[in-house]
Amino acid sequence: MQRKKIVAGNWKMNTNLESARTLANNISKALEQNPTETVDVILAPPFPFLGTVAGVAEEKYAVAAQNMSQHEAGAYTGEISADMLQSLGVQYVILGHSERRAYYGETNELLAEKVQKAIESDLVPIYCIGESLEERKSNQYLAVIEQQLSVALFDLSEEDFGKVVIAYEPVWAIGTGETATPEQAQEVHAYIRKLIQEKYNETVAEATSLLYGGSCKPGNAKELFAQEDIDGGLIGGAALKAEDFTAIIHSF
Ligand code: 13P
Repeated sequence: MQRKKIVAGNWKMNTNLESARTLANNISKALEQNPTETVDVILAPPFPFLGTVAGVAEEKYAVAAQNMSQHEAGAYTGEISADMLQSLGVQYVILGHSERRAYYGETNELLAEKVQKAIESDLVPIYCIGESLEERKSNQYLAVIEQQLSVALFDLSEEDFGKVVIAYEPVWAIGTGETATPEQAQEVHAYIRKLIQEKYNETVAEATSLLYGGSCKPGNAKELFAQEDIDGGLIGGAALKAEDFTAIIHSF
C-alpha cells in the first residue's frame, strides 16, 4: 500500500479569530490556484478557531486539534473531548507534542489513553515523538524513541495501529532554526519503521506515514521530503505564513 504524503501546520498558541480566518482563507486560495493531488494538507489551529477553520476548508485541507482529553465527558473543567472535536468537523488530533510533554507533564502512559480514545472516536492521531538535546548528545535518542512508541502505541491492534500517523520532532530542532539534517531525520525515521515492522509486519510498516517536524521551512523541506522514510512534515513557525506553508506543500 502506498503511504500518504502529509503536510500539517501546527499553529500552536498563535492567531486570533480574525487572523485565523485570514490565514485559513489565504491557504485555501493558494491551494485553489496551485492544487496538490498527492499531498494531504492539515491545519491545526487553536481550539476556539477549529470550527471557523473547518468552515472554510472546502475539502482543500483537513482540520486537526492540538490536544484532546482522554476522558469521554463529565467533570473535567477546561478539557476538550473527542466528541466535541468530531462535532466541529475535526478529523485529526495532534497528541504528545513535546511542548505538552514538557510543560504539561504528558507521559507516554497518558498518551496511550489519548491515542486509544482518539481511535475509538474516529479521529486520526498524529502522535509526536522526539528526543531532547541531552538525549541526543548522550546517544540515547533511539532508546527514547523506542520507549515513546512502544508504551503509547504498541498495545494497539494491527488494525488500529494502521490508523495512526507518527511525527518525529527532535526537541532541539523545534523553533530553534536548527533543523535535523536529512540524514539525521532519515536515520530516526528508518528506525521507527523498523520498530513497526518488528512489532507488526512489513505491510503495516510500509503503510505508516512518518512526518518530520522541527524548523522545517521552504528552504529545507525538499531535501527532507526526498528521504526514503520521510512522508511529510509537521510545521510550526512556517505554517503561520500562507506562502511558506504552501511552498512546503509543493516541495514534494
Ligand atoms: P517549528 O517548525 O516552529 O520548529 O515547530 C515544529 C513543531 O513543533 C510542529 O509541531
